[in-house]
Amino acid sequence: MKAHVKDLALAPEGRRRTQWAELQMPVLRSIRERFSREQPLRGVRISACLHVTTETAVLMQTLKAGGAQVHLCASNPLSTQDDVAAYLVKDLQVPVFAIKGEDHKTYYRHIRQCLGLRPHITMDDGADLVSTLHKELRGLMKDVWAGTEETTTGVIRLKAMAQRGVLGYPIVAVNDALTKHLFDNRYGTGQSTLDGILRATNRLMAGAVVVVAGYGWCGRGVAMRARGMGARVIVTEVEPLRALEATMDGYQVMPIREAARVGDIFITVTGDINVLSKECFQRMKDGAIVANSGHFNVEIDLPALRAMSKRVRRIRPQVEEFTLKDGRRIYLLGEGRLVNLAAAEGHPSQVMDMSFANQALCAEFIARHHETLKPQVYPVPREIDSQVAALKLKSMGIRIDRLSAEQRRYLRSWEMGT
Ligand code: ADE
Repeated sequence: MKAHVKDLALAPEGRRRTQWAELQMPVLRSIRERFSREQPLRGVRISACLHVTTETAVLMQTLKAGGAQVHLCASNPLSTQDDVAAYLVKDLQVPVFAIKGEDHKTYYRHIRQCLGLRPHITMDDGADLVSTLHKELRGLMKDVWAGTEETTTGVIRLKAMAQRGVLGYPIVAVNDALTKHLFDNRYGTGQSTLDGILRATNRLMAGAVVVVAGYGWCGRGVAMRARGMGARVIVTEVEPLRALEATMDGYQVMPIREAARVGDIFITVTGDINVLSKECFQRMKDGAIVANSGHFNVEIDLPALRAMSKRVRRIRPQVEEFTLKDGRRIYLLGEGRLVNLAAAEGHPSQVMDMSFANQALCAEFIARHHETLKPQVYPVPREIDSQVAALKLKSMGIRIDRLSAEQRRYLRSWEMGT
C-alpha cells in the first residue's frame, strides 16, 4: 500500500490515543454502528484532506465501516499527529500522506497523492484539495459526485468559485451546519487556542492583556475563554455589528494599531491577510506574543516581521523569538499557523464528535442524492443538523421538553393573542 508517514513504529501510541478520542465521540460511534449494518458508502471512494488527528482517525474508521475506500492527507503542514498517521496506515490500512512539518512542495505532493484514489467524494478543510483538483488534476472531475467542506475559510473560497462559475462540482458546506460552527468554531477554537498558547508559552493568563482580532464564532470563543482565565480582553473588528456585539459582551473594542501598544498576547482569527502588520509590530511592547488561530498562516505579516528583525531564534518548542532592530522582542507561536493544532491537539474530541458526525452524514447524503445536485455550495440539510443535536443531547443524558398540542396550536394561530 502506498503511503507516506513519519514512522510506522509510532502506531501503538496513535492507536491508544485514538481509543481515548473515540470514548468521547458517542455520536460518531452510533453512526459507525449504523454504517456497519447498512453500508451506505459501499464502493464509494473518498479523498479526505483534514487535520490528521485522533478525531479524524475516528471519522476515517466510520467512513470505512460504511463501506467507503478512503485516502487521507493533511489540510495544514503543521497539524499532523504522526502517531495517528502511522496508526491509520499500519492498523487500519488507510493510505495516509502526511508528516508534521512537511514543506510546501511535499504538502501539495501529498494532496495529489491523496487524489490518486480518483474520488467520488472530496472531504476538505480549507479547500486546498478542491483547488488543486481544479487547477492541476481536472481529469479527475468526471468521477467526482460532490464534496464537503469543513471550515469557514474553505466555504468562503468555494463560494467565490461558485460565484465566478468555476466550481466544477457540488459542495456541502459542513461548516455552516449549526451543530458545527456554533460548537466547534466557538467552544472548540476557544479552548484549543488557549491550550496551544499555554502549552507553547506556559504564560499566566490572569491579568494579561489579550487582543483578539476578529469576532466571528472563533473570535467569540477565544475572547470568552481568555476572559474566563482572568485576562483583560480587547477585541478588534472591521464589521460594525460584530464590534457592537463585542462591546455589549463587555469587551474593549479599538483599532488594532491602538491595541498593538497595550497587548501582551495577540491572537488573530479573522480569515484575512496581514491583520498584524508592520505598523502593529512597530508599536508592540517588548515581549509581546503573537499567535494565529485562523485557517491559513497569512494573518500575521511574517515577511514584514522578518524584515524588521536582526535576529531570530527558537527559544522553546513552537516559540520563535524575533529581536527587532531597536532591541524589542516579539514572540511568534507555531510559525503563525493554527496555534491550536501546531502547539496543542486541536479541538477536543467532544466537539469534533458533532463536526465529524456532520461530515459522515453528509457523505451519506451525497452518496444517496448526488445525481440531483448542481455545482454550487449547499447548506447541510436541516434534518442532519437536528439529528446531530438530538444524538449529542442523548449521549449526554440530557432530556428536553416537548410542545403540548395546545402549545403547537397556539404557535400556528394568529388569532390568539393576549
Ligand atoms: N480542526 C480543529 N481541531 C481538529 C481536530 N482535533 N481534529 C480535526 N480537525 C480539527
